[in-house]
Amino acid sequence: MDYLVIARKYRPQTFADVSGQDVVARTLTNAITSNRVAHAYLFTGPRGVGKTSMARILAKALTCVDGPTVTPCGICENCQMIADSRHPDVVEIDAARFSGVDAIRELSDTASFSPALARLRIYILDEVHMLSTAAWNALLKLLEEPPAHVRFIFATTEVEKVLPTVLSRCQRFDFRAIGLEDIVTRLRAIALKEQATLSDAVLYRIARAAGGGMRDAQTLLDQLIAVTDGTTANGIDEADLNLLLGAARGQDLATLVSHWLAGEAGAALEMLEHTSAAGVAPATLLDQLVDHVRAMLLFQACGKESAVLRRLGADLVAVAAHAAACTPEKTMRICQLLIGSQQAMRQGVDPRLQLELVSVRIAGLGQLVDVENLLRRIERLEPTPAAAPPRP
Ligand SMILES: Nc1ncnc2c1ncn2[C@@H]1O[C@H](COP(=O)(O)OP(=O)(O)OP(=O)(O)O)[C@@H](O)[C@H]1O
Ligand SMILES: [Mg+2]
Ligand SMILES: [Zn+2]
Repeated sequence: MDYLVIARKYRPQTFADVSGQDVVARTLTNAITSNRVAHAYLFTGPRGVGKTSMARILAKALTCVDGPTVTPCGICENCQMIADSRHPDVVEIDAARFSGVDAIRELSDTASFSPALARLRIYILDEVHMLSTAAWNALLKLLEEPPAHVRFIFATTEVEKVLPTVLSRCQRFDFRAIGLEDIVTRLRAIALKEQATLSDAVLYRIARAAGGGMRDAQTLLDQLIAVTDGTTANGIDEADLNLLLGAARGQDLATLVSHWLAGEAGAALEMLEHTSAAGVAPATLLDQLVDHVRAMLLFQACGKESAVLRRLGADLVAVAAHAAACTPEKTMRICQLLIGSQQAMRQGVDPRLQLELVSVRIAGLGQLVDVENLLRRIERLEPTPAAAPPRP
């Protein structure tokens, strides 16, 4: 059997199967049930969040032999051909590849023909912001007075580049970045089907690394399964993921933070050198450190059972040890320093230098007097002054 990448193998096939785009799915299914489907839709949103998938599902819903229906059967000729992108009446055009006006002219010529199999001709134009102005002009005429059997679904990641005249002729849907829980739930289901064993911590870290993109999350999962060579009996662990993300090993991360808390600036700098030699980019390490310290804060504030903490996918043993060795005030201070470093890096300060500076500063924090503690001691020594005596 052909190997199919996970992202394609698990493409959602029904409205209910699309994660995290409930508003879009609900509005579209309402339009179908009330028989108010527009002639042209524009799907916008970040990469890999379900625009093309939703366009195909809508096409199936409209052309299924049972249709128009909100639950396309998935087995009729129309449904199957659309799922495999080989339906003669459902034309997918990637504008990133055919920015030329020729493809659109051809489209305008064929649009007036009756559909071959289905009751509609549906044009799915992906990445429409790439179409040239000439191509748009050719398309606009068609969009103004489309033949009754034609529907358009445009998709784009850069809606601000779409002409206003086009926008005003389409019903627009904004797809959102997908929430962490939705991504994890889906990854977990896929891992189960692929018989891969992954801990929740690893799943959450994959989801976080994907930054709201379902395709990116699934691609990472795919690579992770490939890296481990199918030997998933012991489960896929953090080390494999760190390798894939170019991130520091959990052990190195924990050691670095331990040096910070112990006030060992020199040892911390050596650890930085070690991770750098292992190929970890300073910005990646800094992100990991922010996550770790954030986990310490959550641990101190909410305890180890906290769901928020679990979602960070942090090494809880190290986090617990570090949280116990540090006051909440100091943890907060470290967090602020790290976030300041992230900003400095974005402004172009040499990343490695920035990491070294912040390490030395954090390691020096131990010598700072804990102000809260000091205040408490002063209060104990000196009772709160009584109300000031009335002036003579
Ligand atoms: N909302 C989602 N629910 C479930 N799976 C999704 C979702 N979004 C994306 N995927 C997965 O990612 C793959 C790519 O999704 P899709 O092609 O629909 O994204 P897209 O928004 O069109 O991306 P692009 O902007 O790059 O064209 C799908 O095959 C599917 O496996
Ligand atoms: Mg797409
Ligand atoms: Zn069908």
